[in-house]
Amino acid sequence: MTQIAEVIQKMTLEEKAALCTGAGPWTTTPVDRLGIPEMTLTDGPHGVRRVEDVHTFLSMSVPATCFPTAASMASTWDVDLIHQVGEALAKECIALEVDVILGPGVNMKRTPLCGRNFEYFSEDPYLAGEMAASIINGVQSKGIGTSLKHYAANNQETQRLTISAEMDERTLREIYLPAFEAAVKKAQPWTVMCAYNKINGVHAAENHRLLTEILRDEWGFEGFVVSDWGAVHDRVEALEAGLDLEMPGPREVRVKAVVEAVRAGELDEAVLDEAVRRILTIVFQSAETKKGGSFDAAAHHALARQAAADGMVLLKNNGILPLGSQKRLAVIGRSAKQAYYQGGGSSHINPTQLDNPFEELQKLAGDAELTYAEGYPADESFDQALIDAACENARSAETALVFISLPASKESEGFDRPDLDLTTQQIALIKAVTAVQPNTVVVLNNGAPVAMSAWIDDAAAVLEAWMMGQAGGGAIADVLFGKTNPSGKLAETFPLTLIDTPAYLNYPGENRTVRYGEGIFIGYRYYDAKAVAPLFPFGHGLSYTTFEYRNPRASAAACRDVDGVTVSVDVTNTGELAGKEVVQVYVHDRKSSLARPPKELKSFAKVALEPGETKTVTFTLDFRSFAYFHPAYAQWVTEDGEFDILFGASSADIRQSTTVTLQSTLKLPCILTRESTLREWTEDPRGMRVLAPIYEQMVAGMRANFGGEDGEAIGMDPMGFMMDTPLSGFFHFQGAALPKSPEETVDELLEQVYQLP
Ligand code: BGC
Repeated sequence: MTQIAEVIQKMTLEEKAALCTGAGPWTTTPVDRLGIPEMTLTDGPHGVRRVEDVHTFLSMSVPATCFPTAASMASTWDVDLIHQVGEALAKECIALEVDVILGPGVNMKRTPLCGRNFEYFSEDPYLAGEMAASIINGVQSKGIGTSLKHYAANNQETQRLTISAEMDERTLREIYLPAFEAAVKKAQPWTVMCAYNKINGVHAAENHRLLTEILRDEWGFEGFVVSDWGAVHDRVEALEAGLDLEMPGPREVRVKAVVEAVRAGELDEAVLDEAVRRILTIVFQSAETKKGGSFDAAAHHALARQAAADGMVLLKNNGILPLGSQKRLAVIGRSAKQAYYQGGGSSHINPTQLDNPFEELQKLAGDAELTYAEGYPADESFDQALIDAACENARSAETALVFISLPASKESEGFDRPDLDLTTQQIALIKAVTAVQPNTVVVLNNGAPVAMSAWIDDAAAVLEAWMMGQAGGGAIADVLFGKTNPSGKLAETFPLTLIDTPAYLNYPGENRTVRYGEGIFIGYRYYDAKAVAPLFPFGHGLSYTTFEYRNPRASAAACRDVDGVTVSVDVTNTGELAGKEVVQVYVHDRKSSLARPPKELKSFAKVALEPGETKTVTFTLDFRSFAYFHPAYAQWVTEDGEFDILFGASSADIRQSTTVTLQSTLKLPCILTRESTLREWTEDPRGMRVLAPIYEQMVAGMRANFGGEDGEAIGMDPMGFMMDTPLSGFFHFQGAALPKSPEETVDELLEQVYQLP
């Protein structure tokens, strides 16, 4: 018997029930007599938010490095860098005596209005999954656990505890689950945190299908499931669904409910034992990592600076950047002196130190003179005097740097954004400054896209600096002065207006229900399919150098789905400066049975190149790179045919492509039924095999009845409207030509079909 099984055997029913409920806001229940230690779980995701006394709820957290938020980190597209951030987070957990950090968050950015998007990576499930797996592997390589959250479909803050996210199976599988799936399969997070919301009517905490059938049975998750704080409704039902640890605690009523349910025979004790086993496995595993000591705050600040710089996205540049010879720079905007570097809510970190962007600029500006004007108030009020003073400054300088940050009232955990807009004052400020100073660079700090149409044409350059973490001030200076050549690319589309966004008609729902009516078409999948031009496409980001893509190729012109294929492209730095390029690989299916997005990201790589240097970048495409989820077969499906492999500098800037012919090895079950249409029969290889002997005769009969192929009687080929008729309906038109009734004939054909191999 294993050690854990022995411990479980010695535990009383009460102790087991108590272990499945937290002992406090951030700790699990210890059982001293059996040597079961307390375990501490704290937020996450981009820093360690550990309160001084983990047995109290709300107090100031102890200092820890505030790394860039997920929105910023995802824009690095640099899995190695993200891994390093994960390692650093773990080192801080060790020093601050934390066993599990609550993150990363991999919910999809369905709408740019979600107030918590800054905590999430992307609108693309593949990119989000790669980022999540990398940070989890980084953290867990040091013996600290993670909590992959919020599982699943927590894509808005509006009514987040009560809303039901309603979507079809294919959408769930292709868009809202794959980032969780990849993270589980590639990194085995120690814990997964369930979401608050319902999915198709069932709360995530009590969702057996999600927590057990998909997470564990299909994906092989080995850790335990923890509730989001306060997400459980029925403790017994949640246990049965596969939710092991309810947080926060203590909750006597919950412990009692579990004990009583077991005693009354309503809950199988084996279910409780299994939850206890899962929790104990992690509790003992985490106890093996010795906690305490200190962490290298300076080194982590430097890493935060590098990550922030690499995540910054140069959206526009008329050549004014990098800054160089200017002798007078007008620095405008409150966020130049009060860095806007993180968002509100559970992820709010007490930083170890905080860069002041203005001071960091000054450090790199040499003998250039920097002036400052506040530009706009902290809230959403309007103050013309601040604009006038800023213009004064801008006019007398060679270049203006306008720092714009959204007020905290406009984005945070707990509520969604009302719009994509900057404040009225900020828009007026940018317009006024650009009117007097054409050399104006706008530096944005925000967690999600903002609308820019009102002013972007007049700005010389725009840098998306995100909620950039505590070292972001220095990182902005690095990028503006060219110490760091920008290499960030958008992990989400920047729309022109809110009306253009994919979920616009369905978000935020009503009557406690939000219908994911756009289905699989979120983010660039939507903009591509509808040919709606965004402000900046997914994957976009400029550099101070230029890159050329050449020689696209595949390891084979044809491949089987199970073998996959490797594809390569040569990338050359054709400019004067060293730089890094994010090479993106999208797959386009030329023909498929179900509708597919025009292209989907299936691989990427970040490559560093000296001026003139060329590197061959190689990518592996596997079964899933070509597959889609077919709801009728309830599985991932590949189909024979040609796929274009697109090498892009962004989703809208495809530089090279090659084509591979895929051979599917799947033997799909037959899904023909009595309801299947003539088209479905003819498109199904087995269906056509049994239909073939009578098919031609039936078609001829049909046409004869309606006046020939030209369909004189009805002005069209009768087969034109017959194809979408159930086969029995088609037979009805055959009259006496059939020896049996249409229904009997179909049943016989079905019998034959299901006997075929
Ligand atoms: C948030 C989680 C967080 C937890 C603990 C919840 O309200 O949704 O992301 O980890 O609180 O602070």
